Amino acid sequence: MASVMSVCRRCLVGSLRKGLANAIKNTANRLNHSEWKNINAVLITKTEIYRNSSTISSERPVVKTTIDEEELRKFALLSQQWWDEQGEFEALHALNQIRIPFVRDGLLNQRGIPPLDITQPLAGFSVLDVGSGGGLLAEPLARLGAFVVGIDAVEENIKIAQIHLQQDHKIAGKVKYIEATVEDMLVTEEENFDAVVVSEVAEHVTDHAHFIECCCRLVKPGGSVFITTLNKTQASYFLGVLMAERVLHLLPAGTHDWNKFIPPEDLQYLLDKNGCVTRLVHGMCYNFLAKKWSWIQNTSINYAVHAVKIDSTKSGTTSESKFKNDSSST
Ligand SMILES: C[S@@+](CC[C@H](N)C(=O)[O-])C[C@H]1O[C@@H](n2cnc3c(N)ncnc32)[C@H](O)[C@@H]1O
Repeated sequence: MASVMSVCRRCLVGSLRKGLANAIKNTANRLNHSEWKNINAVLITKTEIYRNSSTISSERPVVKTTIDEEELRKFALLSQQWWDEQGEFEALHALNQIRIPFVRDGLLNQRGIPPLDITQPLAGFSVLDVGSGGGLLAEPLARLGAFVVGIDAVEENIKIAQIHLQQDHKIAGKVKYIEATVEDMLVTEEENFDAVVVSEVAEHVTDHAHFIECCCRLVKPGGSVFITTLNKTQASYFLGVLMAERVLHLLPAGTHDWNKFIPPEDLQYLLDKNGCVTRLVHGMCYNFLAKKWSWIQNTSINYAVHAVKIDSTKSGTTSESKFKNDSSST
Protein backbone atom coordinates (compact mmCIF):
# COMPACT_ATOMS: atom_id res chain seq x y z
CA MET A 1 0.00 0.00 0.00
CA ALA A 2 2.75 2.41 1.00
CA SER A 3 4.77 1.68 -2.14
CA VAL A 4 1.69 2.14 -4.34
CA MET A 5 1.09 5.50 -2.66
CA SER A 6 4.68 6.44 -3.20
CA VAL A 7 4.53 5.60 -6.92
CA CYS A 8 1.26 7.55 -7.19
CA ARG A 9 2.85 10.57 -5.59
CA ARG A 10 5.82 10.48 -7.92
CA CYS A 11 3.40 10.33 -10.88
CA LEU A 12 1.52 13.31 -9.55
CA VAL A 13 4.67 15.33 -9.18
CA GLY A 14 5.75 14.23 -12.65
CA SER A 15 2.49 15.50 -14.15
CA LEU A 16 2.84 18.80 -12.29
CA ARG A 17 0.24 17.77 -9.70
CA LYS A 18 -2.65 18.02 -12.11
CA GLY A 19 -4.40 15.14 -10.38
CA LEU A 20 -3.98 16.68 -6.98
CA ALA A 21 -5.14 20.04 -8.25
CA ASN A 22 -8.28 18.31 -9.49
CA ALA A 23 -8.78 16.71 -6.09
CA ILE A 24 -8.62 20.15 -4.49
CA LYS A 25 -11.02 21.42 -7.13
CA ASN A 26 -13.50 18.65 -6.33
CA THR A 27 -13.30 19.43 -2.64
CA ALA A 28 -13.56 23.13 -3.30
CA ASN A 29 -16.75 22.53 -5.28
CA ARG A 30 -18.38 21.36 -2.06
CA LEU A 31 -17.25 24.34 0.01
CA ASN A 32 -19.68 27.04 1.09
CA HIS A 33 -17.12 29.54 2.27
CA SER A 34 -17.33 32.78 0.31
CA GLU A 35 -13.58 33.02 -0.19
CA TRP A 36 -13.60 29.80 -2.18
CA LYS A 37 -16.06 31.00 -4.84
CA ASN A 38 -13.56 31.53 -7.63
CA ILE A 39 -11.60 28.39 -6.96
CA ASN A 40 -12.72 26.46 -10.05
CA ALA A 41 -11.88 29.22 -12.48
CA VAL A 42 -8.45 29.73 -10.96
CA LEU A 43 -7.66 26.03 -10.86
CA ILE A 44 -8.68 25.46 -14.46
CA THR A 45 -6.58 28.42 -15.58
CA LYS A 46 -3.53 27.25 -13.61
CA THR A 47 -3.92 23.66 -14.76
CA GLU A 48 -4.20 24.90 -18.33
CA ILE A 49 -0.99 26.92 -17.96
CA TYR A 50 0.80 23.87 -16.60
CA ARG A 51 -0.55 21.63 -19.38
CA ASN A 52 0.57 24.05 -22.08
CA SER A 53 3.95 24.64 -20.53
CA SER A 54 4.64 20.92 -20.13
CA THR A 55 5.05 20.64 -23.90
CA ILE A 56 7.94 23.12 -23.77
CA SER A 57 10.45 21.62 -21.36
CA SER A 58 12.44 24.82 -20.85
CA GLU A 59 9.31 26.62 -19.62
CA ARG A 60 8.17 23.97 -17.19
CA PRO A 61 7.61 25.37 -13.72
CA VAL A 62 9.97 23.88 -11.19
CA VAL A 63 7.87 21.86 -8.75
CA LYS A 64 9.50 21.72 -5.33
CA THR A 65 8.08 19.46 -2.69
CA THR A 66 8.04 19.61 1.10
CA ILE A 67 7.23 15.91 1.28
CA ASP A 68 9.58 13.41 2.87
CA GLU A 69 8.17 10.01 1.89
CA GLU A 70 9.78 8.27 4.85
CA GLU A 71 8.07 10.68 7.26
CA LEU A 72 4.71 10.13 5.58
CA ARG A 73 5.07 6.35 5.82
CA LYS A 74 5.53 6.70 9.60
CA PHE A 75 2.35 8.74 9.96
CA ALA A 76 0.35 6.47 7.66
CA LEU A 77 1.19 3.52 9.95
CA LEU A 78 -0.05 5.45 13.00
CA SER A 79 -3.22 6.81 11.40
CA GLN A 80 -5.64 4.63 13.39
CA GLN A 81 -4.34 6.06 16.66
CA TRP A 82 -5.10 9.75 16.26
CA TRP A 83 -8.08 9.88 18.59
CA ASP A 84 -6.75 7.56 21.30
CA GLU A 85 -6.08 10.10 24.05
CA GLN A 86 -3.85 7.68 25.94
CA GLY A 87 -2.15 6.34 22.81
CA GLU A 88 0.79 7.36 20.64
CA PHE A 89 -0.51 10.91 20.24
CA GLU A 90 -1.19 11.54 23.94
CA ALA A 91 1.28 14.44 24.08
CA LEU A 92 -0.39 16.09 21.07
CA HIS A 93 -3.82 15.80 22.70
CA ALA A 94 -2.35 17.42 25.81
CA LEU A 95 -0.70 20.14 23.75
CA ASN A 96 -4.17 21.53 22.99
CA GLN A 97 -4.18 22.87 26.58
CA ILE A 98 -1.80 25.63 25.52
CA ARG A 99 -1.79 25.78 21.72
CA ILE A 100 -5.52 26.49 21.35
CA PRO A 101 -5.35 29.58 23.64
CA PHE A 102 -2.10 30.55 21.89
CA VAL A 103 -3.83 30.67 18.49
CA ARG A 104 -7.09 32.13 19.83
CA ASP A 105 -5.45 34.95 21.79
CA GLY A 106 -2.92 35.65 19.06
CA LEU A 107 -5.71 36.16 16.52
CA LEU A 108 -7.91 38.20 18.83
CA ASN A 109 -5.07 40.43 19.99
CA GLN A 110 -3.97 40.95 16.43
CA ARG A 111 -7.49 41.99 15.38
CA GLY A 112 -7.77 44.23 18.43
CA ILE A 113 -11.57 44.07 18.65
CA PRO A 114 -13.26 41.93 21.33
CA PRO A 115 -15.39 39.09 19.95
CA LEU A 116 -19.13 39.72 19.67
CA ASP A 117 -19.93 36.21 20.86
CA ILE A 118 -17.55 34.93 23.54
CA THR A 119 -18.61 31.33 22.91
CA GLN A 120 -17.46 31.69 19.27
CA PRO A 121 -14.49 34.07 19.57
CA LEU A 122 -12.94 32.96 16.28
CA ALA A 123 -16.09 33.43 14.20
CA GLY A 124 -15.15 35.03 10.89
CA PHE A 125 -11.55 33.78 10.91
CA SER A 126 -10.40 31.35 8.23
CA VAL A 127 -7.61 29.04 9.40
CA LEU A 128 -5.40 26.68 7.40
CA ASP A 129 -4.20 23.82 9.61
CA VAL A 130 -1.09 22.48 7.85
CA GLY A 131 -0.33 18.80 8.53
CA SER A 132 -3.66 18.42 10.30
CA GLY A 133 -3.21 14.71 11.06
CA GLY A 134 -6.39 13.33 12.62
CA GLY A 135 -7.82 16.82 13.22
CA LEU A 136 -6.79 17.21 16.88
CA LEU A 137 -6.24 20.93 16.39
CA ALA A 138 -8.70 21.64 13.57
CA GLU A 139 -11.77 20.49 15.53
CA PRO A 140 -11.28 22.65 18.66
CA LEU A 141 -10.49 25.70 16.50
CA ALA A 142 -13.77 25.13 14.63
CA ARG A 143 -15.57 24.84 17.99
CA LEU A 144 -14.30 28.35 18.75
CA GLY A 145 -16.03 29.52 15.56
CA ALA A 146 -13.22 29.44 12.96
CA PHE A 147 -13.66 28.08 9.46
CA VAL A 148 -10.83 25.54 9.23
CA VAL A 149 -9.22 23.86 6.24
CA GLY A 150 -7.03 20.96 7.36
CA ILE A 151 -4.47 19.66 4.89
CA ASP A 152 -2.29 16.62 5.24
CA ALA A 153 -0.11 14.72 2.78
CA VAL A 154 -1.24 11.34 4.16
CA GLU A 155 -4.51 10.06 2.71
CA GLU A 156 -5.19 7.81 5.72
CA ASN A 157 -4.98 10.80 8.10
CA ILE A 158 -7.48 12.77 6.03
CA LYS A 159 -9.92 9.85 6.07
CA ILE A 160 -9.64 9.41 9.85
CA ALA A 161 -10.10 13.16 10.37
CA GLN A 162 -13.17 13.21 8.11
CA ILE A 163 -14.76 10.26 9.90
CA HIS A 164 -14.14 11.77 13.34
CA LEU A 165 -15.54 15.12 12.26
CA GLN A 166 -18.90 13.53 11.51
CA GLN A 167 -19.29 12.75 15.21
CA ASP A 168 -19.92 16.42 15.99
CA HIS A 169 -22.61 17.83 13.72
CA LYS A 170 -22.12 21.34 15.19
CA ILE A 171 -18.73 21.69 13.50
CA ALA A 172 -19.12 19.27 10.59
CA GLY A 173 -19.75 22.15 8.13
CA LYS A 174 -16.94 24.29 9.50
CA VAL A 175 -13.99 22.02 8.76
CA LYS A 176 -12.80 20.76 5.37
CA TYR A 177 -10.01 18.22 5.10
CA ILE A 178 -7.97 17.94 1.92
CA GLU A 179 -5.11 15.58 1.06
CA ALA A 180 -2.60 18.20 -0.01
CA THR A 181 0.65 19.98 0.78
CA VAL A 182 1.24 23.70 1.17
CA GLU A 183 2.62 23.88 -2.35
CA ASP A 184 -0.57 22.27 -3.71
CA MET A 185 -2.70 24.84 -1.88
CA LEU A 186 -0.79 27.72 -3.43
CA VAL A 187 -2.29 26.84 -6.81
CA THR A 188 -5.56 28.47 -5.74
CA GLU A 189 -5.26 29.78 -2.20
CA GLU A 190 -2.48 32.37 -2.16
CA GLU A 191 -3.10 35.01 0.58
CA ASN A 192 -6.47 33.44 1.39
CA PHE A 193 -6.29 32.62 5.11
CA ASP A 194 -6.44 34.77 8.22
CA ALA A 195 -4.15 32.28 9.91
CA VAL A 196 -1.88 29.41 8.95
CA VAL A 197 -1.25 27.03 11.84
CA VAL A 198 1.69 24.64 11.59
CA SER A 199 1.82 22.58 14.75
CA GLU A 200 4.45 19.84 15.11
CA VAL A 201 4.92 19.58 11.34
CA ALA A 202 7.96 21.71 10.40
CA GLU A 203 10.24 19.03 11.89
CA HIS A 204 8.88 16.46 9.41
CA VAL A 205 9.22 18.28 6.09
CA THR A 206 12.05 18.60 3.62
CA ASP A 207 13.31 22.04 2.66
CA HIS A 208 12.34 24.35 5.52
CA ALA A 209 12.95 27.44 3.39
CA HIS A 210 10.44 26.36 0.75
CA PHE A 211 7.94 25.12 3.33
CA ILE A 212 7.93 28.40 5.30
CA GLU A 213 7.78 30.42 2.10
CA CYS A 214 4.63 28.50 1.04
CA CYS A 215 3.05 28.89 4.50
CA CYS A 216 3.67 32.66 4.45
CA ARG A 217 2.26 33.03 0.94
CA LEU A 218 -0.98 31.35 2.01
CA VAL A 219 -1.63 33.99 4.71
CA LYS A 220 -3.46 37.23 3.97
CA PRO A 221 -1.55 40.46 4.62
CA GLY A 222 -2.12 41.24 8.30
CA GLY A 223 -2.81 37.55 8.98
CA SER A 224 -0.93 35.27 11.36
CA VAL A 225 1.39 32.28 11.16
CA PHE A 226 1.49 30.07 14.26
CA ILE A 227 4.19 27.42 14.47
CA THR A 228 5.07 24.94 17.18
CA THR A 229 8.12 22.78 16.62
CA LEU A 230 11.44 21.50 18.06
CA ASN A 231 14.71 23.39 18.42
CA LYS A 232 17.93 21.87 17.08
CA THR A 233 20.04 21.64 20.23
CA GLN A 234 21.86 18.95 22.22
CA ALA A 235 19.03 19.14 24.76
CA SER A 236 16.41 18.45 22.09
CA TYR A 237 18.41 15.44 20.91
CA PHE A 238 18.78 13.92 24.37
CA LEU A 239 15.39 14.84 25.83
CA GLY A 240 13.21 15.32 22.76
CA VAL A 241 14.45 12.29 20.84
CA LEU A 242 16.39 9.80 23.00
CA MET A 243 14.45 10.16 26.26
CA ALA A 244 11.02 10.77 24.73
CA GLU A 245 11.24 7.96 22.17
CA ARG A 246 13.64 5.35 23.60
CA VAL A 247 13.34 5.68 27.39
CA LEU A 248 9.98 7.16 28.32
CA HIS A 249 8.19 5.91 25.17
CA LEU A 250 6.16 9.12 24.97
CA LEU A 251 6.40 8.81 21.18
CA PRO A 252 7.00 5.83 18.88
CA ALA A 253 10.71 5.19 18.25
CA GLY A 254 11.79 6.90 15.03
CA THR A 255 9.11 9.61 15.16
CA HIS A 256 11.67 12.38 14.97
CA ASP A 257 14.76 12.94 12.86
CA TRP A 258 16.87 15.49 14.78
CA ASN A 259 18.45 16.68 11.52
CA LYS A 260 15.09 18.14 10.51
CA PHE A 261 14.69 20.24 13.67
CA ILE A 262 14.98 24.00 13.28
CA PRO A 263 16.30 26.64 15.70
CA PRO A 264 13.94 29.56 16.46
CA GLU A 265 16.43 32.06 15.01
CA ASP A 266 16.43 30.21 11.66
CA LEU A 267 12.65 30.01 11.69
CA GLN A 268 12.38 33.73 12.45
CA TYR A 269 14.85 34.47 9.66
CA LEU A 270 12.73 32.50 7.16
CA LEU A 271 9.50 34.12 8.36
CA ASP A 272 11.06 37.55 8.12
CA LYS A 273 12.39 36.83 4.62
CA ASN A 274 8.82 36.08 3.60
CA GLY A 275 7.31 39.24 5.05
CA CYS A 276 6.18 37.86 8.41
CA VAL A 277 7.30 39.68 11.55
CA THR A 278 7.74 37.57 14.69
CA ARG A 279 5.60 38.78 17.60
CA LEU A 280 6.13 36.04 20.14
CA VAL A 281 8.52 33.17 20.77
CA HIS A 282 7.78 30.94 23.76
CA GLY A 283 9.43 27.81 25.07
CA MET A 284 7.11 24.90 25.85
CA CYS A 285 7.63 22.19 28.45
CA TYR A 286 5.84 18.84 28.78
CA ASN A 287 5.42 17.26 32.20
CA PHE A 288 4.84 13.68 31.13
CA LEU A 289 3.78 12.56 34.63
CA ALA A 290 1.06 15.19 34.94
CA LYS A 291 0.44 15.07 31.15
CA LYS A 292 0.53 18.85 31.13
CA TRP A 293 2.22 21.40 28.88
CA SER A 294 3.27 24.80 30.16
CA TRP A 295 4.91 27.91 28.70
CA ILE A 296 8.50 28.49 29.75
CA GLN A 297 11.18 30.98 28.70
CA ASN A 298 13.66 28.31 27.67
CA THR A 299 13.23 27.45 23.98
CA SER A 300 15.94 24.81 23.81
CA ILE A 301 13.56 21.88 23.20
CA ASN A 302 9.96 22.70 22.22
CA TYR A 303 8.87 26.19 21.23
CA ALA A 304 6.08 28.19 19.64
CA VAL A 305 6.21 31.20 17.34
CA HIS A 306 3.55 33.71 16.33
CA ALA A 307 4.37 35.89 13.33
CA VAL A 308 2.22 38.45 11.51
CA LYS A 309 2.41 39.10 7.78
CA ILE A 310 3.15 42.70 6.96
CA ASP A 311 0.21 44.53 5.47
CA SER A 312 1.74 47.25 3.32
CA THR A 313 -1.63 49.01 3.00
CA LYS A 314 -1.62 49.73 6.74
CA SER A 315 1.07 51.27 8.87
CA GLY A 316 1.79 49.95 12.36
CA THR A 317 -0.57 46.96 12.05
CA THR A 318 0.17 45.70 15.52
CA SER A 319 1.52 47.17 18.70
CA GLU A 320 3.49 44.92 20.99
CA SER A 321 1.39 46.14 23.93
CA LYS A 322 -1.59 44.26 22.51
CA PHE A 323 0.09 41.08 23.62
CA LYS A 324 0.40 42.08 27.26
CA ASN A 325 -2.68 40.11 28.26
CA ASP A 326 -2.02 37.17 26.01
CA SER A 327 -2.87 34.04 28.02
CA SER A 328 0.16 32.30 26.54
CA SER A 329 2.61 34.81 27.98
CA THR A 330 5.05 33.46 30.51
C1 LIG B 1 3.23 15.22 14.36
S1 LIG B 1 1.90 15.25 13.24
C2 LIG B 1 1.03 16.70 13.76
C3 LIG B 1 -0.44 16.64 13.48
C4 LIG B 1 -1.25 17.85 13.93
N1 LIG B 1 -0.69 19.09 13.44
C5 LIG B 1 -1.36 17.89 15.43
O1 LIG B 1 -0.53 18.57 16.05
O2 LIG B 1 -2.22 17.24 15.99
C6 LIG B 1 2.63 15.74 11.70
C7 LIG B 1 1.64 15.69 10.52
O3 LIG B 1 2.20 16.36 9.40
C8 LIG B 1 1.91 15.62 8.22
N2 LIG B 1 2.93 15.97 7.22
C9 LIG B 1 4.24 15.64 7.24
N3 LIG B 1 4.87 16.17 6.18
C10 LIG B 1 3.93 16.88 5.52
C11 LIG B 1 3.97 17.70 4.33
N4 LIG B 1 5.10 17.87 3.65
N5 LIG B 1 2.82 18.27 3.92
C12 LIG B 1 1.68 18.09 4.62
N6 LIG B 1 1.58 17.34 5.73
C13 LIG B 1 2.69 16.75 6.17
C14 LIG B 1 1.94 14.18 8.68
O4 LIG B 1 1.22 13.33 7.82
C15 LIG B 1 1.30 14.28 10.07
O5 LIG B 1 -0.08 14.12 10.01
